[in-house]
Amino acid sequence: MCGIVAYIGERDATPIIIEGLKKLEYRGYDSAGIAVLSDGLIGVRRDAGKIRRLEALVAEQPISGNIGIGHTRWATHGAPSQQNAHPHLSANGRVVVVHNGIVENYLTLREELSAEGVEFRSETDTETIAHLIEKFYAVEKDLFRAVQKTLQRLKGAHGLVVMSADEPDRLIAARLGNAGGVAIGVGEGEMFIASDVPAIVEHTRNMVFLESGQIAIIRKDHFQVENLAGKAVTPKLQTIPWDPVSAEKGNYRHFMQKEIHEQVRALSDTLIGRVDFDNYRIKLDGLNLDEQTAMSIQKIFITACGTAAHAGMVGKILLERIARIPVEVLVASEFRYADPIVGENDVVLAISQSGETADTLAAMEEGRKKGALLWSIVNAIGSQAMRQADGCISMQAGPEIGVASTKAFTAPLMDLYMLAVYLADVRGLLSRSRRIELVKDLLKIPSLVEKALEREPEVALIAEKFKDVKGALYLGRGINMPIAYEGALKLKEISYIHAEGYPAGEMKHGPIALVDKELPVVVIATKDDWYDKMISQVEQAKARGGKVIAVATEGDELIPTLADEIMWVPKTPWLLSPVVDVIPLQIFAYHIATALGLDVDQPRNLAKSVTVE
Ligand code: F6R
Repeated sequence: MCGIVAYIGERDATPIIIEGLKKLEYRGYDSAGIAVLSDGLIGVRRDAGKIRRLEALVAEQPISGNIGIGHTRWATHGAPSQQNAHPHLSANGRVVVVHNGIVENYLTLREELSAEGVEFRSETDTETIAHLIEKFYAVEKDLFRAVQKTLQRLKGAHGLVVMSADEPDRLIAARLGNAGGVAIGVGEGEMFIASDVPAIVEHTRNMVFLESGQIAIIRKDHFQVENLAGKAVTPKLQTIPWDPVSAEKGNYRHFMQKEIHEQVRALSDTLIGRVDFDNYRIKLDGLNLDEQTAMSIQKIFITACGTAAHAGMVGKILLERIARIPVEVLVASEFRYADPIVGENDVVLAISQSGETADTLAAMEEGRKKGALLWSIVNAIGSQAMRQADGCISMQAGPEIGVASTKAFTAPLMDLYMLAVYLADVRGLLSRSRRIELVKDLLKIPSLVEKALEREPEVALIAEKFKDVKGALYLGRGINMPIAYEGALKLKEISYIHAEGYPAGEMKHGPIALVDKELPVVVIATKDDWYDKMISQVEQAKARGGKVIAVATEGDELIPTLADEIMWVPKTPWLLSPVVDVIPLQIFAYHIATALGLDVDQPRNLAKSVTVE
């Protein structure tokens, strides 16, 4: 959940690290810090608050040097404060550490170190790591070995970078388990380390991603990697295709707004290389799937968290309707505990923007243990969920910086649709004309999304009228039921207004008691097979004095006579309607939050990539 950036080379490390941290602030933003080595001494600047605060501190008390480490934190152990902010120094001030993850046995380690006379200066679990390294360094006289020994003592999952005043020509980076990534960016005569690609991609696109159990010694002109047992590893160098400009806000007020608008491009990109436009066929090379395996699949378990899980719920309908394969959707944090009945002919399909969500990775591991084929749909290139799967569909959405996920929701909807068409085709379920129809429908989506986006000013006016509500109910049916969940999640996470998503038919079984003139009821009532049923929900809400905001299909003449406000969307083939219907709900949540003056991109208590369980 925290972000790490480090640098070693000829340039001044301070601005490189601070600029990198700014790009990672979405990961955690309650405190930040930097440590730079110069003239044999480690200088540390850190404070509670956002990177702006750190930047001001560094301006007041400058530090510079050619090697340094930095961190932006999302508190797990100890409140956000100056003393708990990373980097953490060892007792003698010669070792300094930035760390992602949780030292699960930190109380035992703390007691052990305290008994040896170490005085702790923070409430964090990370400080134990710095002290342990100092302790082992005293014996080993080798930073790498000291870190290796330390890692053997730590329980839990970790990503860390270590710097020592006694070995000023190197940084040590390590990854243990799933506490976020550790990417090494290889430059010319300089190296970069980051928990996430966007922090360093402007400097180099050549990267190596550490696997769990790997430790690297990084010098300015070369690096080497070993596993925990001390065996040398030859890592794979990858080239990142991202354009650094797309990690900037451009002319938009917020990343979230930019990313909402980027959906047209993201959805077109996700089709590239997957749609054979001459034959109207889908090809998903990244899945590494042969015909025999495709024929043998009996069931697909979709697992994911939050917004990605909502995409999975739509995916269930797509895969069952189009490919006729039974699908179960299990929220990733429940997957292991549910002990699902998964067999060798089943697939566990994980969906994740970051590809580093601890719960999702744990669910994948469980799927692996149970012998299932592992697939993932992932946005962050090189992430763990991408590497661990037997087959992967890369979302092609580009970096998503806003904490509230938008384009990384609609992109996997397209991917799931393509997957369904592909499997149906391989399994011989589609006539030629049906296949062509399904693929043609897919190609219409980017321009339909563009049309929905053009209505942003109208939706913003509705948001202005409703910005002071205390709660909202979102209702959807069929394939748009998950869109009600997603609309409600978007509103609550960035505007802090309580919102609940419900299957529309359930309203009469309880939530209807909430409906009065204060409570807006947002209904997804587009022209699909459930339209008439949705109209009767609107009537029921109106009969109780509720204020109805409807997402409706352009040209519908009935709905304006019933609903109080309408968010229009263009007519869309029903299997793909969630991609278009969610657009006004994203815009609505965004404009309510901005009207309330809230920090849309970095909502309170949240982090972009949730690497703790
Ligand atoms: C909501 C949101 C979260 C994430 C969830 C999973 O806007 O962003 O609910 O969808 O934490 O994250 P990933 O997709 O990175 O696994």
